[in-house]
Amino acid sequence: MKILSAPMAGFTNYAYRELVRFFGGADIIETEMASARSFVELELRSREYPLRLWGVCGESDVVVQIWDNSPDTLSEFAIRLVNDFGVSGIDLNFGCPAKQIAGRSESGSYLLRFPDRIGDIVKSVVLVSGDIPVTAKIRLGCTADSINAIDVAQAIESAGASGITVHGRTAADMYRGNADWDAIAAIKPKLCRMPLYGNGDIKTVEDAISRLRNYPVDGIMIGRAAISKPWIFSQISAAIRNREIPPEPTDIELNRVIRLHYELLTKQLLPQSAVVQLRKHIFYYVAGKALSRQFRNIICQVNDPINFFNLIDNFLGKPENSDNFTKKFRTITT
Ligand SMILES: Cc1cc2nc3c(=O)[nH]c(=O)nc-3n(C[C@H](O)[C@H](O)[C@H](O)COP(=O)(O)O)c2cc1C
Repeated sequence: MKILSAPMAGFTNYAYRELVRFFGGADIIETEMASARSFVELELRSREYPLRLWGVCGESDVVVQIWDNSPDTLSEFAIRLVNDFGVSGIDLNFGCPAKQIAGRSESGSYLLRFPDRIGDIVKSVVLVSGDIPVTAKIRLGCTADSINAIDVAQAIESAGASGITVHGRTAADMYRGNADWDAIAAIKPKLCRMPLYGNGDIKTVEDAISRLRNYPVDGIMIGRAAISKPWIFSQISAAIRNREIPPEPTDIELNRVIRLHYELLTKQLLPQSAVVQLRKHIFYYVAGKALSRQFRNIICQVNDPINFFNLIDNFLGKPENSDNFTKKFRTITT
């Protein structure tokens, strides 16, 4: 049973991935989706790499998600990711419904209409990736009238992929309604060997365990719930093993998490930019707490790190230097 940390553009950058690693429990951690075309063009023009690949070189155990519709461009990118970036896996995006990707660029979920084209893409990327596993992420289909996840999954398996994640919505659904786990489950008997990972709407440890128990999947992928709780993977991992589930952090411990998150962001960004990026996550971290709306309204006007952390200290309580945060979280999650 594998637990996967989902690719999420704008969120699953280097700092987030390190934070998930800090808590432990995720077997596979994915980057944000990276455009193969941008990589190839940027490198040709300026020998630079897209920002979304920041930190990937030298990062242990990271899967890079890539998108485009050209087998050649994707393969060129895959070769570089394998040889120069040392990635542990490549995930192909056939699920993104966003206009820039599935519209004009005819990539992401647009390609679900064409299982054969998806098969050709997977085959090309598998061919150049050697021992590095190539996986794919799809939705159930483009619309409710054209659900074809079984055909697409079979094309992906026949092309040699090492796994598939299925988000149980159609592209037209965007994020509306509920993920259809019965439709995900219907794919399993139609596959011969490739692991199937289910994705969509897992919000709690109980959701995760019930999906793993009640649906024939080889693992689960979690996205949004882990933005507010990057420690959720460690809780699920403990629950699967019948171990004591690590408790939710207290408010002061959450302040520690936020400070650690900030430190990780400043490896890549200047302090003010790190604050701007962190703010997005803080909205998720404090959601549901008393007076969180007022806190959000104030904090979104502050860019200076000192004022920013003063506000956080006032809201969550100030951590003592002597508290045992790292020890507590590290020991309970390993
Ligand atoms: C802000 C955001 C960005 C996302 N970016 C990506 C992406 O880059 N690639 C991808 O395959 N899916 C992306 N997704 C979809 C998620 O990976 C996941 O399939 C979806 O959120 C459903 O899972 P969840 O209910 O656990 O969040 C994104 C979702 C969100 C909310």
